[in-house]
Parts: sequence; structure tokens; C-alpha cells
Amino acid sequence: MKKLIADRAERIDASGIRKVFALAASLEDPVNFSIGQPDFDVPDELKEEAIEAIRAGANKYTQTSGDEQLREKVTQRLKDDFGWENPAGLVTSGVSGGILLALLVLVDPGDEVIMPDPYFVMYKHLVNMLGGRCIFVDSYPRFDLPVDAIAKAIGPKTKLIAVNSPCNPTGMVYSQERLSELAKVAAEHNVPVLSDEIYEKFSYDGRCESIAGYYDKTLVLRGFSKSYAMTGWRLGYAAANEPLRAVIEEMTKIQQYTFVCAPSPFQKAAITAIDYDVGALVNAYRRKRDLIYDGLKGKFELVRPSGAFYAFVKAPNGDATAYVEKAIKNNLLIIPGNVFSERDTHFRISYATSDEKIRHGIEILHRLR
Ligand SMILES: Cc1ncc(COP(=O)(O)O)c(C=O)c1O
Repeated sequence: MKKLIADRAERIDASGIRKVFALAASLEDPVNFSIGQPDFDVPDELKEEAIEAIRAGANKYTQTSGDEQLREKVTQRLKDDFGWENPAGLVTSGVSGGILLALLVLVDPGDEVIMPDPYFVMYKHLVNMLGGRCIFVDSYPRFDLPVDAIAKAIGPKTKLIAVNSPCNPTGMVYSQERLSELAKVAAEHNVPVLSDEIYEKFSYDGRCESIAGYYDKTLVLRGFSKSYAMTGWRLGYAAANEPLRAVIEEMTKIQQYTFVCAPSPFQKAAITAIDYDVGALVNAYRRKRDLIYDGLKGKFELVRPSGAFYAFVKAPNGDATAYVEKAIKNNLLIIPGNVFSERDTHFRISYATSDEKIRHGIEILHRLR
């Protein structure tokens, strides 16, 4: 008999993160620095919009490409942000849905996808699942966008460059200068860029720039999960300007036969969310960033994060898995670097938790050094 599980599923190895969660299951009220979602709830006004939408009957399928008003709004934003003239947009089931559709459309077996290492974990596993090959470009120890090394990594099989700013897991926000340098390199080689901007609002030391402002072969993925704490609402969007409109059209075709559409009442609430000011929430997270950075600098090796809600810290003995196991035994949940990297020297902290827990976590980290 043929084996039950297809090769493509077996190409995904999620053992690293599973191990952490298995170890964590036994803990009672731990300091949880492992969670990739905000500790605040969806703002009441937006909850009301969703409830109202359900009551008003927005419970059926929407068009595959998304609620028209929402799509208009997001494409208008991209016109304003990047001067794009004729963008195409698709409302997706989370940015995760957008990443999957984008890679399904772009990556054939044997194609290479270049990404800075550390990287968001999903890229690696999905590229592998599709039979593509990840080309990891090391960005240690500063985690800046490694433009020269990316340029060197481009070859005949390169299909795509994936960038994520603000970055999970490093908390880096790439500068305008670096992004425009990368835009130049990508344009020289005619390679499209996937820009995952899910943390765009969480930028603490100035505006988060996008490579889309410098390069029109950019596929932009943005979302609602993090900015409005709607991780369970499963909403995001993908957009591209003229040269990549066909990518959005193909993604829409595949969405039609997979997700069908993003959740419809939440799309209605997202129309209001787009204009909702999350400045106060971001200010609170800037203070949390300061708390974690000031609490660890000097004693730990880390770069000051400027966005998202993560810090990527060198393990005191350089062995992240060993340090994480020790931390978990001491009621502190952190994630070893090898979940997001080909190295295992650092660990990821998510400071999306209460100030009190952050202080307690810092105390434990110091004790275990
Ligand atoms: C960099 C990055 N991209 C995409 C996602 C997926 O988010 P969602 O599918 O909830 O929109 C996450 C979630 O952690 C993320 O960190």
C-alpha cells in the first residue's frame, strides 16, 4: 500500500516549537514570553462593528477577493503610501493565508527563495512543503537587512526574496536606506519581493518604511491580527501594483478553491479598523520595549529592537536550547533560536505581556545567566 502521508507534509518539521509547548504544558501561571500576539483585547468599538455585522446578516460568503468596500480601502491606502496607480488587492484569511497563497502561486519545485536568517518560521516550512529551496542569508549579529549577501545569493534559480519588517523574531525595522538598496538589487536581477508587513504599526523609533515604496515588483502582505489584537479573526490582505497584478489574480483563483473567502462579518469590522488609531496601544508597547531592553542590556547581548514585540537575545552560553530548557524549568517560557534560524545561539522573547510579568521575566533571566 502507498504510504498514508504525502511527502509534502513530511517536509515540514515543526518539532522545535512543539517541544517547547510540550515542556510548557506542565507549568502553572508561568511568565510567558513565548506568545506572538498582543496582550490587549480588540478595541470595543471594533468588537461592536463585528457584532453589528453579524446581526445585520453579513454572515454569508463574500466575493473571493473580499468585501468590496474593504478592498477599496486597502488599495486606496497603498495608493497613498506608495503612489501606486493601479493596485490589485485580495482580502486573505490572515497574513498566513496570504503567505500560503503567494508561495503556491510563485514557487515551483526547485525554485529558490532568499530570506534573511533569522526568519518568520512559516516561510521556511511552506517553501519546503512546496519543494522549493530556502536560501538563508545570515544577518547575525546586528540583524540588519543583509543586502550585499542577498545580492551574492541571487542565482538562476532565485524566484523570490522574502523580507519581514518589523521582523519576527528580531524586532528589527529596516531603514529606508537598506530597503532602497535591496530594491535596486532586486530590480537589477528582476526578482520579485514578498514584503510581510504584519507588524507595520508596531514601529517605535519612526515610521516603518516599505520596500514597496522603492520597488514596484513588491507583493505586500499586511494584516489585522497584531495591530488590533484580532489574531482569531483571521484577516489580512495582499496587494500588488501593475507588474505583479497577475500574482494577485492567481492568488484569488487559488483562494476560491481553498479558503473561499476571509470571514465575512470581520471583514465588515475591518473597514472601520483601517482608520482606527492604535497610537495609544503602540505607545504602551514602546514602553514595554524600553522595559525589556533596559532590563537586559549590559548583561545580555541584544540589539535594541525597534518594532514588533520581540527581542532576540544571545543565550549566555551560546546554546539556546539548553538555556530555554533551564528557563522553562524556572517557570519562564521563551523560544530557542533554532525555531527561526539555522543557528541555535539566541532565544526569542515576546514582551507582549503585562509590565509586571516583564519585570518578573527579566529577574528570572538574570538569575539563570
Ligand atoms: C511575521 C509574521 N507574518 C505573518 C504572521 C501570521 O499572522 P496572521 O495569519 O495571524 O495574520 C505572523 C504571526 O505571528 C508573523 O509573525
